[in-house]
Amino acid sequence: MVEAPAASDAAFAFAASATAQMERLLADLGRVYRERNTALHDLEQSHLETLMRLAVAAELRDGDTGVHILRLGYLAEALARDLGVPAPVARHLRLAAPMHDIGKIGIADDVLKKPGQLTPEERQLMCAHPQMGADILGHSNIPLFELAAEVALHHHERWDGGGYPAGLKGAEIPLSGRIVAVVDFFDALTMDRCYRPAYDDEVALEMLAAEAGRLFDPEIVATFLANAPGLIALRDWVNLTQPSFAQMADRETVPPTPAAERCKPTRDLLREPDYFRQGDL
Ligand SMILES: [Fe+2]
Repeated sequence: MVEAPAASDAAFAFAASATAQMERLLADLGRVYRERNTALHDLEQSHLETLMRLAVAAELRDGDTGVHILRLGYLAEALARDLGVPAPVARHLRLAAPMHDIGKIGIADDVLKKPGQLTPEERQLMCAHPQMGADILGHSNIPLFELAAEVALHHHERWDGGGYPAGLKGAEIPLSGRIVAVVDFFDALTMDRCYRPAYDDEVALEMLAAEAGRLFDPEIVATFLANAPGLIALRDWVNLTQPSFAQMADRETVPPTPAAERCKPTRDLLREPDYFRQGDL
């Protein structure tokens, strides 16, 4: 005859079974949590890659290679960090800045690729690309794309108020747009174009300095000039390595020259109203 288990043995067996069940439940929850994070990450990557490829398409239509927008992203991030923007916020600019000219998708070839001067009507069509870019990227509740729309809309505003589309002046222009305008100007000057060879870095830096207070925020220009060796090294690193979009989205990518070793601006730009819209990314 088999003896009935003692009450304490039954309680022990029940506790062991409950513990095992709880461990299985926790393991399942952990797996579901990891799968959810992977799915969200993949979704974010696919959104980003789709828009980056659209940005490359816009660049190719304009006769540039896709590397210009990679340089622009890394340079915008590094300059933002030199200005004191925290690394996670500056990283969003790395991803948003390459999409600044995405609106050129909507400009007809005979205007976009016209070799000579544009007529006033053609100029008006060309000046629509910031708004088109904002329309493509906007209407999203994803902060990265909201920032990209902001950059697209404001990268042709001028510090003196003579830019487009809104004719904003000084600190009315979002900081993101002011940063991208400076790095886009420098990078475009140092690229070979069909109508001229690339300017030397030194000449391009002089041309940038001459536009401080006219086209560009003088403090951002001063910060770019003070950190030019590190920024140029970063540009050369991008040219050499040509990171993929996946690498570009990597949180760990670090510019060759640590931002901490760079010169800081004298004016506290981060006290200005937008600060990438209060740093809410
Ligand atoms: Fe543009």
